[in-house]
Amino acid sequence: MADQITRRVLLGSASAAIAATAAGTATGAEASKSGAVKIVAVSCSPRKGKTTAGALGKCLEGAKAANSRIETELIELAGLDIDGSLAAGVSLGKGRTDDFPGIAARLSDPNLGAVIIGTPVYFSGMTSLCKAFIERLMVFWRKGSFAGKVAGVVAVGGSRNGGQEVTIRSVQDCLFCYDMTLVGTGKRFGAAVWSKAPGGDTDGLGQAENLGRRVAKTALVLKAKA
Ligand SMILES: Cc1cc2nc3c(=O)[nH]c(=O)nc-3n(C[C@H](O)[C@H](O)[C@H](O)COP(=O)(O)O)c2cc1C
Repeated sequence: MADQITRRVLLGSASAAIAATAAGTATGAEASKSGAVKIVAVSCSPRKGKTTAGALGKCLEGAKAANSRIETELIELAGLDIDGSLAAGVSLGKGRTDDFPGIAARLSDPNLGAVIIGTPVYFSGMTSLCKAFIERLMVFWRKGSFAGKVAGVVAVGGSRNGGQEVTIRSVQDCLFCYDMTLVGTGKRFGAAVWSKAPGGDTDGLGQAENLGRRVAKTALVLKAKA
């Protein structure tokens, strides 16, 4: 009963309905046979074009260099309204929508092979924007649309050891719930970037590029086996 109510509220919202439809497309039988594999990176910094977006850009460079079939897209959540409470069945209020449906549509590309999430470290954890976004992905969780898709995580902190690794792990914990295939850098959980490194964080950005390459290669292998 409670689940039915939750479901009604969730689907009763215009924005969620669009998102649910979009999520359904990803699992549909319309998957392109072009061979392209799409990798979408999502920056969960409230600051547009800053270090998290830059680190994800490096990831996507690494991914693109891995194979000519890789297509990439960077989505920045900065400035967007993403309200996590709708995932719990709490209505956004009469007539109110948020920006999640547009993001859901972009994540519903039938060629989607991987998602890379990047978040700044805020008090040793992900940003509230990142958590709200992951909660709203629930429409994909319900349909199992992300099951078997590859995921990588980047965390950017203002300190060298500011909690990047625990932040990466906490994002990964969420993505495990989506039955995603988590990929790290080989030696580390994900890319740990230091935004205030004097002269730039060569090591952290190298990790980001390596992560992107590994995510792409894994997505290609899984696509071939699908
Ligand atoms: C509320 C808040 C909390 C923060 N907490 C941490 C922290 O725990 N560890 C850390 O290394 N940096 C911390 N920072 C710094 C940010 O992680 C850092 O500035 C990062 O580069 C921001 O990413 P952006 O440039 O993509 O916005 C914090 C910043 C803010 C605003």
